[in-house]
Amino acid sequence: MNKVVCIDGPAGSGKSTTAHAVSERLGILFVDSGALYRIMTRECLRAGVDTSDPAAVAAFCKGVRVDFVVKGGRVAYEVGGEEPGDTIRTPEINAHVSPVSAVPEVRAIVTGWLREMPRLGDIVVEGRDIGSVVYPDSPYRFYLDCDPDERARRRQREDATKGFVQTEEQVKASLLARDRIDSSRKTAPLKVPEGAIRIDTTHLSVDGVVDAIASRLGR
Ligand code: DC
Repeated sequence: MNKVVCIDGPAGSGKSTTAHAVSERLGILFVDSGALYRIMTRECLRAGVDTSDPAAVAAFCKGVRVDFVVKGGRVAYEVGGEEPGDTIRTPEINAHVSPVSAVPEVRAIVTGWLREMPRLGDIVVEGRDIGSVVYPDSPYRFYLDCDPDERARRRQREDATKGFVQTEEQVKASLLARDRIDSSRKTAPLKVPEGAIRIDTTHLSVDGVVDAIASRLGR
């Protein structure tokens, strides 16, 4: 069985940056689980599905087809032969992704996809329920946490590079709203997985976080 390194945590905690760095340092494939929920959300919006109607979302998402392709050290996703890129990172998708990802049928589909991925090689997966639900038996489970103001600052800087200009207050409100939905949903809520190693990244550099994770893996 190939290794699965699980990195969970709230939005802006540094999961994505850390998981990329772990993937590079250890030479394993990077997997972004949130992107799969974002793809589901984009497809719902494009098809005019009401994202506040769980039954409609569940029925529609059963038909969404995604191909998985190993590309440049990561598992890339293609919909209709194309990678979604930043079309899944808009404020509109941010506003709709939590209700879509709260639908149990959608979670079951995405969890099934994620469980197939170790066939492609050793992986590092970032998300919200990777160590708690998708891979609860992995010996390499980490939960990153961070002060909300610092998370908002990080996310605002990141969004600005994509051309989305928002105040830090707007970003913080959006992050906290998503945290609330992600942590309180019935199916696979965001939480510290039992037995996972918790790392507070507020005052740590990316290298510091990666060192802590790599040392747990004996690397
Ligand atoms: O990490 P992200 O911001 O791209 O995630 C987008 C949304 O998807 C987030 O609001 C919660 C949801 N998500 C989830 O429920 N479970 C995961 N494993 C990953 C993301």
